[in-house]
Amino acid sequence: MAENNIIANAQHWKKENIVEGYTLWFTGLSGSGKSTIAEKLAIRLEREYGELVERLDGDIVRQHLTSDLGFSKEDRDRNIERVSFVAKLLSRNGIAVLASFISPYIERRNKTRDMVTNFIEVYVKCSVEVCEERDVKGLYKMARNGEIENFTGISDPYEEPEDPEIVLETDKETIDKSVQKVIDYLLTKEYIEEP
Ligand code: ADX
Repeated sequence: MAENNIIANAQHWKKENIVEGYTLWFTGLSGSGKSTIAEKLAIRLEREYGELVERLDGDIVRQHLTSDLGFSKEDRDRNIERVSFVAKLLSRNGIAVLASFISPYIERRNKTRDMVTNFIEVYVKCSVEVCEERDVKGLYKMARNGEIENFTGISDPYEEPEDPEIVLETDKETIDKSVQKVIDYLLTKEYIEEP
């Protein structure tokens, strides 16, 4: 009996005290600025708004949780399926999750939307020409030379979001402007409050 009471109390405590978090899902081409924006945003959310932030980033997650996966449609979908599960666990427990993945397929992103608490799709929009010009990691050049297969935007598809909550045009606006746009959205929707 006592044990049941402890469990009941724990559930009660959880309901009363845990404020739901949210997941900002940054989708866009390689080099569009997803990680750079998420990095800057994470610092501002922590320092200025006292948020508990966790970042999930394609390049890092693929070295650990999904290191067995490549870039076929099947593998990309599996990659997103696994990280979506993590985002779901974190965001339902009060964490602000900043997920940056190319996540090129609409159907898979919509499945994530359905499973994740307070899912906010952020389309990091940037033309393939500008991404290729930036070519921070030299991957576009390798894709053009045929050294990498299935490269998003060159030899693999990217399906643009149809109705994203936020669009950041990183070939037209500064990183700081993009970060501010996300903060403004979170304030307007009352996910965060003015400090
Ligand atoms: S996703 O399609 O499954 O969402 P994810 O965001 O995890 O991709 O990983 C993309 C990163 O992997 C890119 O930023 C790039 O550094 C690297 N990468 C290596 N090969 C490819 C490829 N064929 N297509 C896209 N990105 C690739």
